[in-house]
Amino acid sequence: MINLGNFSSIFVANWKLNGNIEFIDKYYQNLLPNSENCTIICSPHIFLKSLKSNKVNLFAGAQDVSEYNEGAYTGEISASMVAEYSRYVLVGHSERRMFFNESNDILIKKIMLAYKYNLIPIFCFGENLENREKGDYLSIIKQQIEKVIFPVFSSSVFLNQTLIVAYEPVWAIGTGKHASPEQISEVHDYARNLLIDNIGNIKGSVPILYGGSCNSQNAKSILEQKNVNGLLIGGASLDVDHFTKIIQIAHGLS
Ligand code: 13P
Repeated sequence: MINLGNFSSIFVANWKLNGNIEFIDKYYQNLLPNSENCTIICSPHIFLKSLKSNKVNLFAGAQDVSEYNEGAYTGEISASMVAEYSRYVLVGHSERRMFFNESNDILIKKIMLAYKYNLIPIFCFGENLENREKGDYLSIIKQQIEKVIFPVFSSSVFLNQTLIVAYEPVWAIGTGKHASPEQISEVHDYARNLLIDNIGNIKGSVPILYGGSCNSQNAKSILEQKNVNGLLIGGASLDVDHFTKIIQIAHGLS
């Protein structure tokens, strides 16, 4: 039983470094979330306050959080600050790992601080093209999950905390080349078993999202896979009609 609460799927929009107030106003006027699904909009931090909405099952999420709680860290935004305006936070996106050198130890600190302030982390993992071509992608994925998620949940303090994970193969992000349903299914089944075997049934029930060149054409075949519990969408989420269309496709499937 996947721990989706009352939702049938989770849709996360990751706007990355895009958006402004006018964009948000229009977006929120036209966005149509629905009662069966959880819809999360991850904007740059500065816009989190503007994402307040009365729409049903629509939530704000941050794209990152500091590994520090407070102090002399110019430019950082802490988990307690993020928690003023949002419920969710992406942790370990491959763009953060690649461009900002975020290590596993940093990601552990971020998740622990997120929990301290009642944020729900969406932990991202996924192999790069070289790993995929060499065929060692499952061992890379194993390491990414093992080195961050297992240490966090080895402490009983966090065992009952909610977690969402997202498989985002780096080679599929922003390339227009999504992973095939079979490739996605293999990794999601693998991640599900890894979580069950190592941190037990509670964490075996975490929602596993897929991200990487999702659009309204491929959403249906991806969402039909057994261990796919939602989508993490970059480029296509910037067009509110396109994003709404993807959510409506899931509605049709449930
Ligand atoms: P695209 O949907 O643009 O490939 O981005 C995926 C992503 O990185 C979402 O976090």
